[in-house]
Amino acid sequence: MIDPKIIKKEFPVFKNNSNLVYLDSANTSLTPQIVIHKLVEYYENYPANIKRGIYSLSERATAEFEETRKVIASFINAKNKKEVIFTRGTTESINLVAYSLGRKIVNENDEVVVSVLEHHSNFVPWQVLAQEMGAVFKVIDINDEGILTIVKDNSSEVSLDDVITKKTKILALAYISNVLGTVNPLKEIIKKARQINPHIVVVVDAAQAVAHRQVDVQDLDCDFLAFSAHKMFGPKGAGILWGKEQRLEEMFPFQYGGEMIEQVKIEKTTFAKLPEKFEAGTPSIADVTAFKEAVKLIQKLGFSNIQKHEKDLVKKARAQLLHIFGKDINIYGPQNEFSSIVTFNLKGLHPHDVASLLNDKHVCIRAGHHCTMPLHTRFGIPASCRASFSIYNNEDDIEALIKGLLTARKLLTHA
Ligand code: ALA
Repeated sequence: MIDPKIIKKEFPVFKNNSNLVYLDSANTSLTPQIVIHKLVEYYENYPANIKRGIYSLSERATAEFEETRKVIASFINAKNKKEVIFTRGTTESINLVAYSLGRKIVNENDEVVVSVLEHHSNFVPWQVLAQEMGAVFKVIDINDEGILTIVKDNSSEVSLDDVITKKTKILALAYISNVLGTVNPLKEIIKKARQINPHIVVVVDAAQAVAHRQVDVQDLDCDFLAFSAHKMFGPKGAGILWGKEQRLEEMFPFQYGGEMIEQVKIEKTTFAKLPEKFEAGTPSIADVTAFKEAVKLIQKLGFSNIQKHEKDLVKKARAQLLHIFGKDINIYGPQNEFSSIVTFNLKGLHPHDVASLLNDKHVCIRAGHHCTMPLHTRFGIPASCRASFSIYNNEDDIEALIKGLLTARKLLTHA
């Protein structure tokens, strides 16, 4: 069972902001004391560079850094820890694949496929790649509920066979939409995509999934998986690219520099083996080191408890919003599938005004297009309000949200 009252005590931000109602964890999650402690521990005790010092401080830093790789590999069920590459975050991870593999395998008239619900970081890199290589950029649509049209085997909708062909080189999809909360049935999609085209490369943006459900890369059978530490209670500035070993081996390095080389001669440079081949320069050592503490927190709580807690809250929030605002609210996304997200618009009110008035009541939500302009265009809206829930939220937060929204509506409609 998750008890937010107890969990809140582990997040110092609540002690320092006593009225805080934080409903923006899909943007970035809050940081627990154990993670902060580990960050400080690094800087106070072994703030050396990794893999570059023949002295104890550097050896300790290297061991702590590499321990995180082991923890992450086991967390996502990677076959081997060398398949885990440290990056700055999901965006860098996806750009790495688009650059280092995309530019190698995508040719003129090939196809690159994404969906309309992608975050810009899993949309723009593929769009630009396709444009540069003269490839066809295909975008899978959603239905009005926010479900990928390829999911339903309904004659009025598109099926995967209409989208994936032998020319499709890359399929890049989010596991969970950062706006609609749609959970894509990736395992089925990937299985079917591979039946149509066994050579397809599947890239999964798992940024919104890893804090909320078990992600198993072998079970999914994707080629790449990208996520960020900061959306799962870890430090800002560290992320993961997991890739199948064989795929990572065939790729160009992403950046060139220190520690990613094997031999540098005036005539020619050869590169280090995995994972160092993709980790040029001094990484964000403290952030990576502390990241494992966030994973351990999630593992301690357990995904079934986390999911139950978030699902209950989202269900209640949706029901209460509909009950109070009725026809004056539009809630987006699948009705019967509850992730941790509720995205909505109050009729006639601009999301930015709403968010700004909520802030006066210490309620933090996100307002805008949430880095998903194609998705908002699909719904014919420029922006929306998004409340996202996590382990430290409870029913009081729903009450505060609704109270704040009622005040906002009163102020804005009488302005
Ligand atoms: N991807 C983050 C969000 O959805 C920034 O808010």
